[in-house]
Amino acid sequence: MKSLLFSRFLLLLPWVLIVIIVLDIDSSRAPLPALAPRGGGGSSGGSRPAAGRPPPERRGPEAALPTIYAITPTYSRPVQKAELTRLANTFRQVARLHWILVEDAAARSELVSRFVAAAGLPCTHLHVPTPRRYKRPGLPRATEQRNAGLAWLRQRHQHLPPPQPGVLFFADDDNTYSLELFQEMRTTRKVSVWPVGLVGGRRYERPLVEDGKVVGWYTGWRADRPFAIDMAGFAVSLQVILSHPKAVFKRRGSQPGMQESDFLKQITTVEELEPKANNCTKVLVWHTRTEKVNLANEPKYHLDTVNIEV
Ligand code: UGA
Ligand code: MN
Repeated sequence: MKSLLFSRFLLLLPWVLIVIIVLDIDSSRAPLPALAPRGGGGSSGGSRPAAGRPPPERRGPEAALPTIYAITPTYSRPVQKAELTRLANTFRQVARLHWILVEDAAARSELVSRFVAAAGLPCTHLHVPTPRRYKRPGLPRATEQRNAGLAWLRQRHQHLPPPQPGVLFFADDDNTYSLELFQEMRTTRKVSVWPVGLVGGRRYERPLVEDGKVVGWYTGWRADRPFAIDMAGFAVSLQVILSHPKAVFKRRGSQPGMQESDFLKQITTVEELEPKANNCTKVLVWHTRTEKVNLANEPKYHLDTVNIEV
């Protein structure tokens, strides 16, 4: 009788062990919160580590990736929240991306603050207003906002010991970004470049590449630009940003369409550029522009019974 019980026990033991192991694996695979696959957002001027982000030891191979810092200038208008929503939906799918959202405003708006808090990705929310005299058609946009983003980045990193692997790029809030673009720019050593779609009055603009080097520009607009490239067409390593602490966007003497060249001239040369996107033959970002909304039937005074944020 005793030996029968013992043999039954031996028969069951492996199965019990298997069940225990399976349960254990399942519970260690903690489900990610639906809204925050890469951790919650940190608003405010600071950069507290995002709540909900997995601890370093669980981040696995992601931890080895250089952080991508995306500086996005943004301003209040009817389509702002729609633009930011599209952008966040893209950025949320990119590993180790830190969004530096810079409002063109004298103070942080409630709309953007709320948006950032719920965006579900690491985010630093800054603001700086464009002086009134620069808010005119034909003048470069977002100069002060991009500089505020650069200043934040330099301040955050200047006291940290090297190496600080990171890549910076300027992500306007209305463009369209493929996920492949982030894979390409992640390996930027100094300054990398790639084609941009729907820009310069052509289907695309692109750097011309020979033997792996940029030798010129395919463009239909102001071909005399030293770097005939849109803001969406390049990325810069954090090391280059830190080792050129004075490189900024300038208002003085700046002409339309020259911001990119004026900035790149301060940090690199054409010979040094690293072509991405299969030697600059693939369009992975589009300079889309959102149509101005028709608000012709919007009442002068608030008529609805509730206040709705759009
Ligand atoms: C083109 C370039 O793609 C921009 O990078 C460049 O800043 C701009 O020209 C320029 O003229 O300076 P475009 O589509 O004409 O872009 O410009 P917008 O998309 O209207 O503005 C660029 C960025 O600046 C956007 O992220 C936008 O939200 C922001 N912006 C625009 C402000 O923060 N404040 C403004 O008053 C206008
Ligand atoms: Mn734009």
